[in-house]
Parts: sequence; C-alpha cells; structure tokens
Amino acid sequence: MIKINENYQKLQASYLFSDIAKRVAAYQEANSGQNIIKLGIGDVTRALPDACVKAFHAAVDEMASDSSFHGYGPEQGYDFLREAIAQGDFQARGANVEADEIFVSDGAKCDSANFQEIFSTDVTVAIPDPVYPVYIDTNVMAGRTGDWSEGRYAGIVYLDATKENGFIPDLPSEPVDLIYLCFPNNPTGATATKAQLKQWVDYARKNKALILFDAAYEAFVQDRSLPRSIYEVEGAREVAIEFRSFSKTAGFTGTRCAYTVVPKECMAYTESAEAVSVNTLWNRRHTTKFNSVSYPVQRAAEAVYSAEGQAQVKELVSFYLNNAKYIRGKMEALGFGCIGGENSPYTWIDGKSDSWTFFDKLLSEAGVVCTPGAGFGTCGERYIRISAFNSFENVVEAMDRIKKALA
Ligand code: MLT
Repeated sequence: MIKINENYQKLQASYLFSDIAKRVAAYQEANSGQNIIKLGIGDVTRALPDACVKAFHAAVDEMASDSSFHGYGPEQGYDFLREAIAQGDFQARGANVEADEIFVSDGAKCDSANFQEIFSTDVTVAIPDPVYPVYIDTNVMAGRTGDWSEGRYAGIVYLDATKENGFIPDLPSEPVDLIYLCFPNNPTGATATKAQLKQWVDYARKNKALILFDAAYEAFVQDRSLPRSIYEVEGAREVAIEFRSFSKTAGFTGTRCAYTVVPKECMAYTESAEAVSVNTLWNRRHTTKFNSVSYPVQRAAEAVYSAEGQAQVKELVSFYLNNAKYIRGKMEALGFGCIGGENSPYTWIDGKSDSWTFFDKLLSEAGVVCTPGAGFGTCGERYIRISAFNSFENVVEAMDRIKKALA
C-alpha cells in the first residue's frame, strides 16, 4: 500500500494564493461582467525590459542553429550570469560575494522552500508572523512541526511582527537554529536597518544558527541608509544565505529566474559538531535535483546588468513604487494606519476588522482583490495587503472604488 507523507495532513486547506484565486474565480462566475482589479498576489504587469527581450530573442536564435545550440548548462547557472550577478549586485555595492557562491534557479519561492531540506528535521525553526506562507508550509511538509492549533503549528518559534515592535521581530527568547527573515518584508513592506540586521547576525554567530534571508524585494529600497543585502552587515557571510529574484525587479514572474547566495564561510554541523560547508551541501543538492534555467532565460537575466538594462529596471521599479505611494496615500487619507508602500511594493493596512471580511467587502463592493493579512499568520489578523503591481490607471480606479465602497 502506498502511504502518504502524513505531514501533508497537517497543512491548512490550500496554499494562500490558490485559495484567493479560487474565491475570486467563484465571485467572477457569479458576477460576470464585473471588472475586477487585482492588487492581490504580487504579480508584475509590465512587459520585460527591452534589453532583456533583445537578449532573449538573440539567445533563441542561437538555439535555432546547430553551431550555436546549447543543451544542458551547468546546474549552478552559466558563468556569464553568475559573474554579472556577483559584480553587479554585490561587488559594485561593496559586498564581497564571488560568482561560485551564486546558484541560479527558477525562483526564490522554490529556493526558499527547498533550502531547509539540507538541515536535520530536528532543528528548531524561527519564522516571523506574519510571513510568506512558503517558509512555514515547507517546514510542515518536512516534519519539523507538530499539529496546527489556533492558527499556529506546534514546534515552530514564531517571531511576532506587530505595530508595537514596528513590524521588526525581536530576537527569540529561546534557542533556535534556522531563522527566516525577509526585508523589505513580504507582506508588511517593513524594512530593517543595518543595526537591526546586525543583531540577528550576531545572534546567529553566537548560537551557530543560520539565517535564510529573503531579499526578493531589495530593488525597491530607495533609502540609501537601508541595506539591500544582508552581506552589507559585518559577519553575515558566516551565517546567512540570501535569496534574490528577477521576478519583481525585472518582470520575470512568468519567465522564471532567481538566484541564491551561499557564502563559503557558512557552516552547518554534524551530530558530532563537525563543521560542514553549506555551499558544498547545497551544491550537492542542486546538482542532483535541478538542471538550472534555460539558456535564453539566463541571457535575458544577464541583460539586466547592461547599462540599458539597469536604466530600464530602475524605471520599472520606480513605476511600481509610484503606485505603492499612491495606494498608501489614499488609504491613509481614508483614515487607515499603513506601513510599507515606500521602499516596498506592498502596503500593509490596518483594516480595523477581521481581514477576510475586509477582503470580501473590497471584492464584492469595490471589485478589488487584495490579500487578507490573516493568510500570512495570526499577527496579520485585522490587516490587508495591497500590492502595487498593476497599471497606474487601475490603481487609481481601485482606490476610487475602495473610497466609494467604504464611504
Ligand atoms: C506574493 O504575492 O506574496 C508573492 O507574489 C508570492 C510569490 O512571489 O510567490
């Protein structure tokens, strides 16, 4: 008899964004003709930057001829892309990251989901609340938790991010081994200063813990005093893995390209406390389970680092940030407390009521899709998240409709 992984039975209903998509589809079916504006899942709406499109086309043409065709590439990604990333995203900003510490992949979602599997199932995991649900669900699947009760899984150390702590979780009061952090934060849009990240790096160094740092939204940081990478913090190379993505930065949500940085100094430990290189472990896992991203997609990603690409990406990010600023301004004018909406594409809004009820109200009375905060954890109750990923016209229309619905 084929038996299931019983841990899957502990998972709650469906994945948050699938659940929302189902509700929206049901609503649309029952109210055909109503034009819905989607400011829910953070899916970009603008075209790929022209520099990327040109490089993509040229690479497809190479694939069309035997003499320039590419079969399997290196699992870790082509050197041309790994070098462009190391130089453009890190060395140019004074962070010491080498090309062979970069692992190209098809998404920060997959990497942040998969990374935990190279660690023991009995490590103690600290996860913020609210949080991108992938971090929790994958640890549930791996068997690192007990059952679900009152909105939380037994065995996880939850790090509350609330209005009281400025949405930056405090250090845990009990020892933890694996820590998930995300800045600019999804879902709250909160950003952490270098001093705040330093506390986590110091904690991890002291406790031989490891930080999984999700920096998928780093390109939205405009305030020069804020770090874009955890490697801007001294000592982070010993204790932090960083996830990055071209999805939100360069419009690659449908094209798929991301990368993970695994510094050679990062160590994890055997039962007998012998240090093992995390870079070596991840390389072993990656080469066994992944065949990297297609050649044309990697060429398109490389074009992000050309002068033309940099200017186009900057314009894209500014465009979405302008939407975010507009959303936050309008929600504040309606009397809602907000965080994010600057240095982040997400605005986190205190809806002062049950977040699914607020979600339903905006859907049925304004035809606007947001994301209910409760879907990100118990500390998200009362909140909704509004994403800036849409056209400016739609954002303006959505905010007008919300104003009328809430009048
Ligand atoms: C989100 O809306 O939180 C993200 O788009 C989800 C993702 O990147 O997978």
